[in-house]
Amino acid sequence: MFSPSRVAAAFAVVLSLSSGVYPIGKVTRSGRYLYNADGSRFYIKGIAYQEQGASSPDPNAPFSEPSTFIDPLANGTACQRDLPFLQQLGVNTIRVYSVNSSLNHDTCMQALSGAGIYTILDLALPVNGSIDRNSPAWTTNLLDSYIKTIDTFSKYDNILAYNIGNEVITSPNGTTALAFVKAAARDTKAYLNSKSSSALVGYAAIDGDATWIVPLASYLSCDPSGSNSGSTAIDLFGLNNYEWCGNSTFQASYAGKTGDFSGYNVVAYFSEYGCNQPSPRVWDEVPALFGSSATPVWSGGIAFSYFPAESDQGAFGMITLSSDGSTVTPNTDFENLKTMYNQVSFINDPSQSSAPSASYAACPQQNTTFLASTTLPPTPNDAACQCLESNLSCQFNPQTSNTTAILGPLLDTACSLLGTVGGSCDPIAGNGQTGQYGVVSPCDPSTKLSFAMSGYFEANKRNPQACSFGGNGTVNAKASTTSSASAFASSCLAAATGTHVPTAPSTTSNSGSSSTSGTGSGSSHTPGAAITVLVSDARALLGVFLTFAISVAGGLLSLV
Ligand SMILES: *[C@@H]1O[C@H](CO)[C@@H](O)[C@H](O)[C@H]1NC(C)=O
Ligand SMILES: *[C@@H]1O[C@H](CO)[C@@H](O)[C@H](O)[C@H]1NC(C)=O
Ligand SMILES: *[C@@H]1O[C@H](CO)[C@@H](O)[C@H](O)[C@H]1NC(C)=O
Ligand SMILES: *[C@@H]1O[C@H](CO)[C@@H](O)[C@H](O)[C@H]1NC(C)=O
Ligand SMILES: *[C@@H]1O[C@H](CO)[C@@H](O)[C@H](O)[C@H]1NC(C)=O
Ligand SMILES: *[C@@H]1O[C@H](CO)[C@@H](O)[C@H](O)[C@H]1NC(C)=O
Ligand SMILES: *[C@@H]1O[C@H](CO)[C@@H](O)[C@H](O)[C@H]1NC(C)=O
Ligand SMILES: *[C@@H]1O[C@H](CO)[C@@H](O)[C@H](O)[C@H]1NC(C)=O
Ligand SMILES: *[C@@H]1O[C@H](CO)[C@@H](O)[C@H](O)[C@H]1NC(C)=O
Repeated sequence: MFSPSRVAAAFAVVLSLSSGVYPIGKVTRSGRYLYNADGSRFYIKGIAYQEQGASSPDPNAPFSEPSTFIDPLANGTACQRDLPFLQQLGVNTIRVYSVNSSLNHDTCMQALSGAGIYTILDLALPVNGSIDRNSPAWTTNLLDSYIKTIDTFSKYDNILAYNIGNEVITSPNGTTALAFVKAAARDTKAYLNSKSSSALVGYAAIDGDATWIVPLASYLSCDPSGSNSGSTAIDLFGLNNYEWCGNSTFQASYAGKTGDFSGYNVVAYFSEYGCNQPSPRVWDEVPALFGSSATPVWSGGIAFSYFPAESDQGAFGMITLSSDGSTVTPNTDFENLKTMYNQVSFINDPSQSSAPSASYAACPQQNTTFLASTTLPPTPNDAACQCLESNLSCQFNPQTSNTTAILGPLLDTACSLLGTVGGSCDPIAGNGQTGQYGVVSPCDPSTKLSFAMSGYFEANKRNPQACSFGGNGTVNAKASTTSSASAFASSCLAAATGTHVPTAPSTTSNSGSSSTSGTGSGSSHTPGAAITVLVSDARALLGVFLTFAISVAGGLLSLV
């Protein structure tokens, strides 16, 4: 009989015997550099580690987005299979793009730790678990999902950093989403501090023109209050950089971006690298990335990718798996990267004692190509949004567990109907360019929808038909028949407009789908795979796992 836990346990014992008893050291940030516990400089010599998921082509999205993922840290057999190859490569870090916080990760995380391998873990999930670039918001369901992942992983000693987003912003006009990303960094950092976690907070950016990538990076590490506080700053800026193709030179491929980041205040590294034209890759960039021209600015990088990853630009994987998943065959890219990584010797400069401490400058000014407001949205507040949802007169109560697919169209419908009766969806909208955030904007999408439905229902003298929405709405029999949705929005959320240290969600809290829903038998998620790599234009090769909630986007776009 198949017994994954027994395999896992046996594996853990073997590892702990073979790897000795040296616990993995703590890596900390001093200013713009990372340091080992002994004070020597730490560089990320890493590889992306996630099997590619199914993608969902969407005519409205510029990129095909992953719709499912395979948690690469939940299968001890698979980690056991891969660990010798990661060790051959000589990596000290893997980057993982999505995990399932309800699964057990002990075997993989302990095995990696025993092998001296840290993890940079992205907190976002495909489809509805990430900040949507086209309709950005920082909401209770996202914060709770991030917190659940942090709580699942906080017991491991080898989490180097949590990324709060990957390529959320992909163009200058997309910089309106930055205020929500920075709020995510602020709240994630506050939560980690409250748990005495030393894990760093990162963001991984798509590469782009310095005129907006440089202010984007500065914005994520700036202090909007102007008092040199790091409380809203990321610790780790990742650039998904594919500028070095084939036989190039530091001067030709890296000097530009290195110059752009020469004055950066927190850690910078390549959160993905490894142009695959020409193929196979020779990894000439490795000595340059860890060489003396780069190390004053960059702290290493993540080679993309261990598992096969298909894109318009061809294949990126460094191994192939047998069809039954039992054996790994490394390819030429793997052998070449192994050679290059094993030749790296880290430049131990500057010493930790001479590393300047970080300072947090004022934020970049808004202009026509950089649109981010320095007024951040509030910390999402579960209790306040739950108070509102419970009191609303007409509640989203879908007959399907696939709520993500219908939220967008229903929001469009409800908001346009509300408009016809003199109401407005302004309270559920947030604008990261003007810095104006509706009082309901930090609530999860289904509470926002219930709010819009309730407004329409109330404007129609509470005629039950005005709460039907094709069978997606239910009149709340417990609700007041005199107070309005707007009144409850004010009373429930009045005190929830600022920032606070988030707490772990209660297990009964509303987290994305309607709290009133009686459905929910069966999951709408099919564990699949995770990653797509695409190309934006001839020059820049884009990274993976673009965050996008397809259906919700359609809805909120009509509100602006
Ligand atoms: C996480 O795993 C559980 C148990 O297999 C599954 O029910 C759930 O759908 C998964 N969640 C995600 C987001 O994949
Ligand atoms: C940014 O502009 C491009 C091209 O004009 C457009 O396709 C895209 O939807 C815009 N993105 C956002 C987030 O507004
Ligand atoms: C906007 O500001 C950034 C620096 O913050 C600058 O690089 C960019 O050129 C500016 N754009 C315009 C149109 O002035
Ligand atoms: C790389 O380019 C340099 C300079 O153009 C050349 O001397 C060298 O032989 C090339 N190496 C390979 C492996 O093609
Ligand atoms: C774990 O990975 C192995 C190797 O790919 C595979 O055979 C097995 O089915 C996986 N187990 C689960 C529960 O997915
Ligand atoms: C309904 O709203 C009132 C007033 O804001 C609040 O005191 C009460 O707790 C809410 N009810 C629920 C169930 O949250
Ligand atoms: C719910 O809303 C969706 C999207 O508008 C619609 O397609 C569906 O027919 C509605 N009714 C039910 C019972 O799902
Ligand atoms: C995503 O949607 C599913 C239902 O379709 C829900 O169970 C889950 O909580 C949502 N996740 C987030 C982060 O909102
Ligand atoms: C949810 O609905 C969307 C749109 O109808 C569909 O593309 C997707 O496959 C559905 N997801 C699941 C898990 O059924």
